[in-house]
Amino acid sequence: MAAKRKHIEEPTSSDELLTLQQAAKIFEKTPSNISYLINYDRINRYDTEGRRIEKARNGELRVSRAELAQYFETLDERMRKRMEQHSSLDMELAFLDVPERERTKHVHRLHPYLGKFIPQLVEYFLSRYFKQGEVVVDPFCGSGTTLVQAAEMGINSVGIDISEFNTLIANVKLAHYDLEFMRREVTDIMRRTVGFSERVFTGRFVPLVDEAADLVTTSEYLNTWFAKQSLKEILYYEKLIPEYTYQDLLKVILSRTARSCRLIYHYELATPSKPVTEPYVCYKHKGRICTPIRTIIPRLKFYSIDTIRRIVEFSKLRKDIDSFVIEGDSQTVDFEKSLPTGWAAAHKFGGVFSSPPYVGQIDYHEQHRYAYELFGIKRRDEQEIGRKKKGKGGKARKDYVDGISKVLLNMRNQLPKDAVYFIVANDKLSLYPEIFEKAELKVEKAFNRPVEDRTERDKRPYSENVFFAKPA
Ligand SMILES: C[S@@+](CC[C@H](N)C(=O)[O-])C[C@H]1O[C@@H](n2cnc3c(N)ncnc32)[C@H](O)[C@@H]1O
Repeated sequence: MAAKRKHIEEPTSSDELLTLQQAAKIFEKTPSNISYLINYDRINRYDTEGRRIEKARNGELRVSRAELAQYFETLDERMRKRMEQHSSLDMELAFLDVPERERTKHVHRLHPYLGKFIPQLVEYFLSRYFKQGEVVVDPFCGSGTTLVQAAEMGINSVGIDISEFNTLIANVKLAHYDLEFMRREVTDIMRRTVGFSERVFTGRFVPLVDEAADLVTTSEYLNTWFAKQSLKEILYYEKLIPEYTYQDLLKVILSRTARSCRLIYHYELATPSKPVTEPYVCYKHKGRICTPIRTIIPRLKFYSIDTIRRIVEFSKLRKDIDSFVIEGDSQTVDFEKSLPTGWAAAHKFGGVFSSPPYVGQIDYHEQHRYAYELFGIKRRDEQEIGRKKKGKGGKARKDYVDGISKVLLNMRNQLPKDAVYFIVANDKLSLYPEIFEKAELKVEKAFNRPVEDRTERDKRPYSENVFFAKPA
């Protein structure tokens, strides 16, 4: 049954109406940025006739160009006021004029990851302090932003991360692909999964065998956080992966799909509290009734095509350099042992560019729990520096200072004396002066980078430090 619409008022002006795609193009945003503005009541919803509506039928949603223009104009003004206290150099580091699609360009948006930095920040410093052919090291490489950006700029890179899933994402971004073959594999496994879903769940086929019978898992998490149909489809896709060459790429597509198909409330995307199984009143969508996701197919199709496009785009930009992702603890990593024989000695290490975890802030394993459960990946929470579970108390801070300084000291002991160190951190607790002292590094300059209030949920001025240090 079609959703019931409520007309709030008749059209009042001949203002230009735009689809989300048109609006995204004109204002250099993504369609989801525009939907965000609608969902948070920053702009109105219209139908194709220009009537304000609460809920749109398929294909009829329009937004007003004038409303959007006014929103973005006043946003700039609000932003300018907030940023007035910063110097012009700091302002440059806010990258306010960089459109969303550039911030999330090509493989940078291959998989969600809480806590990544924007590629423009990496580019800014690498282009000024590193030369082509040198090596940049990121001892907390996460989803691989530094390494991807370095590849675009002709700089070799080495990244280290304690979380195996993070290294999987980074490796998938940096891998070299036979593009045509990759395209065929991604679409083939997607089509087979769509076929499975149609055979088993549409009731249009008389099953000869129960194809879904052996698609079961003992993971309590997966059984709890996914609808029955979604889980069968996920397990079917996963079972097919070993038949293909680009298995890690397929895992990333499946993981991205699974993440967005969890049984979660729309208003709890970042920190789901409990699984939702019935339709519910959605605070994010103005009290609309939202229904939990039952099948992965629409998202699987979207992410498969999106992934192919992003990989192809990056393949055209990357230079012929080496990049290595090491799964390990940066406090003790040994480049001689972890890199191909002779590679470290044959290359000039220019320095470090990294954003370490902060104390008690983000759980880097738990945020991807679905992937750990699905692929049976081993977790190494205990070795995570600044682990969220340990909180922000005195002991946690001390362990954090010890952990980060040990990492920097380990880098200092293996990198040349003239190496540069860039550390991006929102050092609210002023822990970094002690960290640098312990690591025997001297801070040459601390940039204060304003961070754009992208969601508008947090109105406080917010900035982060980019510390530039050299061996003391
Ligand atoms: C702020 S994130 C880095 C994000 C990255 N800049 C990006 O754009 O994706 C910090 C990372 O440090 C990793 N980490 C925490 N403890 C570590 C350790 N002992 N050794 C290596 N990596 C560690 C976490 O797993 C996390 O991925």
